[in-house]
Amino acid sequence: MSTLLHIDSSVRAANNANSDQNSISKNIALRFVDTWKRNRPEDDYIYRDVGMNPPDFITQDWIGAVFTPENKRTPAQKERLALSDKLIDEVSAADVILISSPMYNYGMPAQLKAWFDQIVRVNKTFDFDLSRGDFPLQPMLSGKTLIIVTSSGEFGFEKGGLREVSGHLAPHLRTLSKYLGADKMYEIASEYQEFGDDRHRLSVANATNRAEKLASELSISTPAGSVKNGIATM
Ligand SMILES: Cc1cc2nc3c(=O)[nH]c(=O)nc-3n(C[C@H](O)[C@H](O)[C@H](O)COP(=O)(O)O)c2cc1C
Repeated sequence: MSTLLHIDSSVRAANNANSDQNSISKNIALRFVDTWKRNRPEDDYIYRDVGMNPPDFITQDWIGAVFTPENKRTPAQKERLALSDKLIDEVSAADVILISSPMYNYGMPAQLKAWFDQIVRVNKTFDFDLSRGDFPLQPMLSGKTLIIVTSSGEFGFEKGGLREVSGHLAPHLRTLSKYLGADKMYEIASEYQEFGDDRHRLSVANATNRAEKLASELSISTPAGSVKNGIATM
């Protein structure tokens, strides 16, 4: 049995009374999940909609608690880190992580960034050692597969595309992926939402098909036993 962790981050719901308002990224991610669950009904599934239920922003007290040795933390500091501990436990438990994200102002939503800020944490998801020279940070998790599903109103954010220099969503997620322990990463992008034309319809259809196909492929190739931090458990 393995674990799929699914994080949605659009502030829009997947289904609304007016379907024009439906989140595209959530619906594409849902197609991945439906296929995965059909093929692997025995797997664990963890879901968070950080768009609708955003994690707290980190604070000065949060940083103070993180940098206080674990055995010296006050009850208040432990409480301050409880959400971060829980979110990190969910990432640690996952073999496959699916993140869906809209593009807001050329990057990720603040709600998704808040989730990452709770998770990328010293001595939990990375360690820090100046003896490593210019690269003191080292990720601590490994062995996971990450799938990102994005939706944007404009288009051409890919390498060599019309708006490559403005595309900060996928590059940022790629940079952060190592702190989630992702060794493999797949990207599915839907574009042109603001144009509402055939290019948009084709882009959504292609992204949806790719999500289903990738879920089928990964549900076969992912081992039945979990691979947690490089150690296989059956
Ligand atoms: C607050 C906000 C900011 C946006 N900023 C951008 C942007 O910078 N670039 C872009 O291409 N689309 C932008 N869009 C369009 C969204 O990326 C697009 O509507 C996308 O489909 C949203 O994802 P969702 O359908 O999953 O909610 C923005 C939309 C909103 C609501």
